[in-house]
Amino acid sequence: MQNFDQIIQDALLAFAATDDPDALEQIKASFLGKNGQIPGLLKGLAKLPPDERKLVGAAINRVKEAVESALHARRESLRQMALAARLAEEALDVTLPGRGEARGGLHPVTRTLERMEGLFRSIGFEVADGPEIEADFQNFTALNTPEDHPARSMHDTFYLQDENGGVAPGILLRTHTSPIQVRYMQAHVARYAGAETMPEIRVIAPGRVYRVDSDATHSPMFHQVEGLWVGEQVSFADLKGVIGDFLRRFFESDDLQVRFRPSFFPFTEPSAEIDMAFMSGALKGRWLEIAGCGMVHPNVLRHVNIDPEKYIGFAFGMGPDRLTMLRYGINDLRLFYDGDLRFLGQFV
Ligand code: FA5
Ligand code: MG
Repeated sequence: MQNFDQIIQDALLAFAATDDPDALEQIKASFLGKNGQIPGLLKGLAKLPPDERKLVGAAINRVKEAVESALHARRESLRQMALAARLAEEALDVTLPGRGEARGGLHPVTRTLERMEGLFRSIGFEVADGPEIEADFQNFTALNTPEDHPARSMHDTFYLQDENGGVAPGILLRTHTSPIQVRYMQAHVARYAGAETMPEIRVIAPGRVYRVDSDATHSPMFHQVEGLWVGEQVSFADLKGVIGDFLRRFFESDDLQVRFRPSFFPFTEPSAEIDMAFMSGALKGRWLEIAGCGMVHPNVLRHVNIDPEKYIGFAFGMGPDRLTMLRYGINDLRLFYDGDLRFLGQFV
């Protein structure tokens, strides 16, 4: 019996001496395993006389139960310790400062477009838009640009593929925002069909346009803002007034020069390119073409059933990407579309 109590003592001490669950199982084996102390005692029973066997057997069983229950208790406490350690290790420190969300911002060209819309609205222009995949008719034909005109060359325009890999007929990525002039005038004429008088048309149309172009001042995708004013008494002087006034307000400066350089567009007559330069500052004296313009060609008005004997108007197509370059002093327009946040983040 003395020996039996000692076994229980030894087991309790040995279990308590380890906090490693694997080592605990090893120790268990030395007491309860096939060659452990307690099965050894049970084997010894056979040598005892039958009347002692029963008593000793019962005592060995009590030892076995005591050791087993000590083992279970130790297993459980090791499990709790491991859990507590894991919880401590994985705990979130809610007092740490947060990482913070990066602040987004509008693209510089978007800022320019919003600014242009605001300024033109303030002088009574509406804002319209139109499809980027445009019909041949609106992009060219209705703008007095017949089938064989060089502006239709494959090199100047992105056409679309049909299912067989050929050129989809009759549609293309618009090369300018001028087709919106056509669409807007068509809708306007339809709206006032039968009315005694047709109200003036005063609209701008911002949007993306596409050309096979790429250098410091040309990107294959860029933006234009079309402007159109059609009424009974609209002159080239009004065009000059609107553009000059707009540019001074856009750049918040009177220190700039604007020049109208004679040019050609099939859909205006006379036509001009609008160039501008600052008279002071880092960009002083550097002329940049910012728009094409002119008086709407009578054929364009005829195409949309407006009587050119009664109505006259001006149109322009401005390059907001270029205005953005000038406003922020950027020398390569392609930077706007590289998607480099180091560049774009400066405008936030
Ligand atoms: C036109 O596109 C005419 N539709 C403009 C017009 C409208 C004339 C109405 C008369 C009446 P142009 O090809 O010059 O014209 O382009 C107009 C402006 O768009 C240019 O002055 C320039 O500021 C800008 N632009 C042209 N190509 C690019 C390009 N690849 N990248 C960035 N800006 C461009
Ligand atoms: Mg031009």
